[in-house]
Amino acid sequence: MKRTVLALQPLLDNEMQQLSDDYNVIRLWEANDPVSTIKQHAHDVQAILSTYNSSGVSDRLISALPNLEVIAQFGVGYDNIDLVAAHKHGIAVTNTPDVLTDDTADVALYLMLNVARRAVEADMFVRVGRWQSGAMPLSTSLSGKTVGIVGLGQIGQAIAQRAAAFNTTIVYHSRSQKDVAYKYYDDLENMARDCDFLVLACAGGEQTQDLITYKILEALGSKGFLINIARGSVVNEEDLLIALRNQTIAGAGLDVFANEPDVPAEMIKMDNVVLSPHVGSATIETRSKMGQLVLDNLSAHFEGEPLLSPVKLAG
Ligand code: 8YV
Repeated sequence: MKRTVLALQPLLDNEMQQLSDDYNVIRLWEANDPVSTIKQHAHDVQAILSTYNSSGVSDRLISALPNLEVIAQFGVGYDNIDLVAAHKHGIAVTNTPDVLTDDTADVALYLMLNVARRAVEADMFVRVGRWQSGAMPLSTSLSGKTVGIVGLGQIGQAIAQRAAAFNTTIVYHSRSQKDVAYKYYDDLENMARDCDFLVLACAGGEQTQDLITYKILEALGSKGFLINIARGSVVNEEDLLIALRNQTIAGAGLDVFANEPDVPAEMIKMDNVVLSPHVGSATIETRSKMGQLVLDNLSAHFEGEPLLSPVKLAG
């Protein structure tokens, strides 16, 4: 008999088809009344397929599914899952690291280039015919600058490699010092003061909530740029708005926001920000690999094999 998966969001067509071939899939995003759909199938569900932007996987949801065994997250970040509750109920959790590292790091680089070289503005400058009336205002070099990376995991390291190819100096701040040649700062404010680009590549969740406050932005200074491809929650968005409004910092390149898909109205009008709709992993190739990893983790779990990418549970 097929096992039942509660899917909070869809995978790409091909992987969704494979999922439906192997499991009974409850397509929660299509349900008119998600709460009663969950109640109706509560005893059948053995797995949840979740993503960062679906309804969260809370203690309440986990407790409502007595036969749940595994939560397979479509994404590397899992701040939408209550890991303490998963641990308490003995539920395994998996995510999709590695396969999205390159694409996500690419987005950090294009945000850096875009905001410093004013690429979006330059495109508009040509389209609206302003070139005929004179040259575009000058932009800022990437070369020779210092890039401070917050969180030197896989994505942070991939950003470092790429940024170094643009003749920048890499420094970093993370929970602990790594065995790398880049200069380490245990103090974020000191690093912000010394760098031109502050690039956020850390995990979301309680530990990094509001890590970037006005004080840090002030330290980054009026020539500094903030780049965020991590989670909107890492930045205090009110403080960022003040810093952008007052030109406390030069600008920001943002792929993530506090209340996605809502972006503060004031930010949309600002010309010192480049905005991007959370597309770090959003290529056909990567989303397909992420889906395949979700499928492989589910099969491994139900066949009693080691999980391919287990998330360490909070005890
Ligand atoms: C999303 C992400 O998971 O991997 C992450 O943590 O934020 C993204 O890759 C993706 O957009 C799917 O919802």
